[in-house]
Amino acid sequence: MNQVFSIFGVSVMIVGLGFISCRHDPYVSLDNYPEIPFTGVCDPDSVYFQNQILPILVSNCTESGCHNQQDREEGVVLDSYQNLLATVEHATQNDLHENKLMRAILSNEPDERMPPIPNSSLTADQISLLKKWLEQGAINNACDENFGGCDPMDARYSTFVQPLIQAKCQGCHSGNNPQGGIKLSNYAEVKAVALNGKLYPSLLRSSNWMPLGGAKLDDCNLQRIQTWVQAGAPEN
Ligand code: HEC
Repeated sequence: MNQVFSIFGVSVMIVGLGFISCRHDPYVSLDNYPEIPFTGVCDPDSVYFQNQILPILVSNCTESGCHNQQDREEGVVLDSYQNLLATVEHATQNDLHENKLMRAILSNEPDERMPPIPNSSLTADQISLLKKWLEQGAINNACDENFGGCDPMDARYSTFVQPLIQAKCQGCHSGNNPQGGIKLSNYAEVKAVALNGKLYPSLLRSSNWMPLGGAKLDDCNLQRIQTWVQAGAPEN
């Protein structure tokens, strides 16, 4: 009788362990997705994961309580290509139903849609970037936005600051629950944070720099922000 119980106990344990390890198995082996070599100049017909897709995920999905390393909501972490592939089923499949990331983003069900209500959904532009990236093979690619040189004095709001804030900051810094109480959803709000002295230093921190969880801005882009702030944060 004892033996029967202990065999039963051991098999429950084995099944249990198997279940736990399955849950944590990455969905995709990264060996199949080698980092592609750095490609240099940005081709306007290509979508680049590091430059365009990752900032959308970091800004809209990794805020506190969501898909970052600490909180790992639903086991999903969206702070890198590796974690996207490891924690989201079919994340690179160009089938908008199979692909769990796209299914959540495109869902019409209020309790399924990501980012969850009351956050706004991703914009049409962001969604079409994601679709194009999937069509192009969903690789971990990057390009050099400063290829051919970068002018630190080239720092207009309309062509530089606004697109950067929209791509890398607004997901966390807009809506009903802006992170850190900082709103960056329009010119007036960005200007206020620039002129109260918080914007530029937040980008320079040696840890937890902004965009939180994202790549640090390169030196030239940091200088461009500084140029714009020092000029009085004009709406130019
Ligand atoms: C993933 C979410 C997230 C993203 C993306 C993000 N932030 Fe933040 N931000 C936070 C959180 C959380 C805080 C409050 C905690 C802290 O200061 O670290 C914060 C605080 C700040 C502050 C206040 C700093 C202070 O001194 O009080 C500024 C300014 C700021 N962010 C600017 C930005 C800018 C600019 C970007 C884009 C380049 C950005 N953030 C992207 C989450 C984010």
